[in-house]
Amino acid sequence: MKGIILHGGRGTRLGPLTHTGPKQLIPVANKPISHYVLEDLRDSGVTDIAIVVGDIYPEKVKNYYGDGNRFDVKIKYVYQEQPKGIAHAIGKCREFVGEGEPFVVYLGDNLLKGGIKKFVKSFKESDLEGMILLCKVKNPERFGVAKFDKKGNLVQLIEKPKKPPSGYALTGIYFFRPKIFEMIEQLKPSWRGELEITEAIQLLLDQRRPVGHKFVEEWWKDTGTYEDILDANRLVLEELKPEVKGKVEDKRSIRGKVHVEGGAQVKRGAKIQGPAVIGRNSVVGENARIGPYTSVGDKVTIKRGEIENSIIMEHCLIDVREKIRNSIVGAYSEITSVGVGKPRGRTFIVGEKSHLML
Ligand code: TTP
Repeated sequence: MKGIILHGGRGTRLGPLTHTGPKQLIPVANKPISHYVLEDLRDSGVTDIAIVVGDIYPEKVKNYYGDGNRFDVKIKYVYQEQPKGIAHAIGKCREFVGEGEPFVVYLGDNLLKGGIKKFVKSFKESDLEGMILLCKVKNPERFGVAKFDKKGNLVQLIEKPKKPPSGYALTGIYFFRPKIFEMIEQLKPSWRGELEITEAIQLLLDQRRPVGHKFVEEWWKDTGTYEDILDANRLVLEELKPEVKGKVEDKRSIRGKVHVEGGAQVKRGAKIQGPAVIGRNSVVGENARIGPYTSVGDKVTIKRGEIENSIIMEHCLIDVREKIRNSIVGAYSEITSVGVGKPRGRTFIVGEKSHLML
């Protein structure tokens, strides 16, 4: 079975982070979201993988994943010049998939606890032409939603319905056989100008071709917004195995599940409340309070300040007299407080589409 990771799209809801890289490379517990996707595919025995890259820094994706050797998989890159929809991105992979082979498509910004291994097995053993994974959600109107008949058969998929026919959302993990490419060829752009995968699956259903569905029982997270990314960070940190590889001057600094990477230093007096992760070669100073639910990337210095429920990416400097919470700070940023006695007021050098809440 082959695998396709969708790594394109514009990620407009995640500006300014997506001004410098694709959203799928945003780190959650210090690892890009799409890295979890790749690991799930590999651990499910899917090692022949195409990554569809878009027009937002595709070279960053290639630099990170290379030919896949480092991850024990084989990677090919497919270009989607413009984000014309998920079905359009899949359509670009026809040659990669070839004849007759089943394949799985995984959106590079989706996370699924427990992984897809059992679903890969059941799809391979089936004669289905498509299989979708459904997850019960509180806000189905945000997603593609499944409609069932009285016998529980899947009959329709509706994109972002105002009145959802069920509470089951379509996750971003799809299983297909090559018949789907014929359906994609028939699609016309939707009201939002995209080729919709829900419409391609609907064509399979309308032609009474075999389409299966499975329910996911653990959490599933689509990371389209800032809130989603902080949720995902919390969910992944919850699963963290505590481990201290770096230097912690005083063991009492650490409470709960904390991962301190190699080369990191936690100074005496610092306090880290897990779940939290401190990246390689980072320094947590004596006046720093970190966590819970905080990911600090590599080579970060937290001199002073409290940080809770946040993601601080690599090479940042934080030295503040106040508390930072529910925040995502892009790489190479500095947040500092002016000295006591200096004129009051705050100073910002902020890129386009930033969010500041004071
Ligand atoms: P979306 O989140 O629907 O779209 P987007 O990435 O453009 O984000 P925004 O709405 O904030 O502008 O995309 C879902 C997933 O599919 C995501 O991983 C990106 C990927 N994708 C592609 O690879 N190609 C595409 O043409 C589109 C639309 C999405």
